[in-house]
Amino acid sequence: MPRIRTAVFPVAGRGTRFLPATKAQPKEMLPIVDKPLIQYAVEEALEAGARKLVFITGASKRALEDHFDVDPELERALEQSGKTDQLDAIRNIVPSDATCLFVRQGRPLGLGHAVLCTREAVGDEPFFVHLADDLIHSDVPCLKQMADHHAEHGHSVLGVETVPMDQTRNYGVVAVEDEPSGAQRVTRIVEKPKPEDAPSNLAVVGRYILTPAIYDHLARTGKGAGGEIQLTDAIANLLADEPVHVLRFSGRRYDCGSKIGYLRATVEYALRHPELGENFRAYLQGVWER
Ligand code: G1P
Repeated sequence: MPRIRTAVFPVAGRGTRFLPATKAQPKEMLPIVDKPLIQYAVEEALEAGARKLVFITGASKRALEDHFDVDPELERALEQSGKTDQLDAIRNIVPSDATCLFVRQGRPLGLGHAVLCTREAVGDEPFFVHLADDLIHSDVPCLKQMADHHAEHGHSVLGVETVPMDQTRNYGVVAVEDEPSGAQRVTRIVEKPKPEDAPSNLAVVGRYILTPAIYDHLARTGKGAGGEIQLTDAIANLLADEPVHVLRFSGRRYDCGSKIGYLRATVEYALRHPELGENFRAYLQGVWER
């Protein structure tokens, strides 16, 4: 199975849950300790082998393009003041053999529509979709775990984890069956079902490997849950044509689309941070004892 070379990052959402912080900057630029969410996303995709990085942007997203561009003025200033660590931190965010492409989603018609906008940029090969809101800490990057599964079995792969039954309305939810190969295959997928309608409590998180067959389905998909064109609905139609697998990845996920998930990620990434961890742990203990 050829390596997956392309990663798609839908970053056109307005991040209304984080207003006013996201009024003039994209939610994907919110930092977890010292890196914006989108940089964690890009690093994960690069570690999984992607070299073509396709961002679907919308209004107020200029900061994203700037973040992945070179900034000669800043580099010169850091160089002149001998700030080599900071210089390294901004210099090689994207390696020289990777390419960034920015595709504009003119109207906010939903995640499915956003992915459809990348058809020309992606071409006729399997690709990753990464939703930066879902930050996953793991020894082996989640997309790499999925790429390894894809290399062994082929097909589309959805990253999944179990969630409490009362949270199914926040996710795409799947029913699965075991295949003789040991893989698990999706038999049903529903976008944001009420608990009583959910096929299980196995939720799709923001990691996908999709075959290019998804594009024909996306082009035919009308409005679904929330009045938006849903990626989940196109995947549901894809099931009739080809197998779609799930991977119960190992790692800890933080829902950084919610304030509490964002705070959890901030605290736990700070505790793991090589320079800050020890100090921050002592500080938290002090807060606890106050
Ligand atoms: C999107 C998808 C949903 C998926 C979720 C994962 O929803 O539509 O199927 O389970 O991401 O985070 P959103 O969170 O953008 O509403």
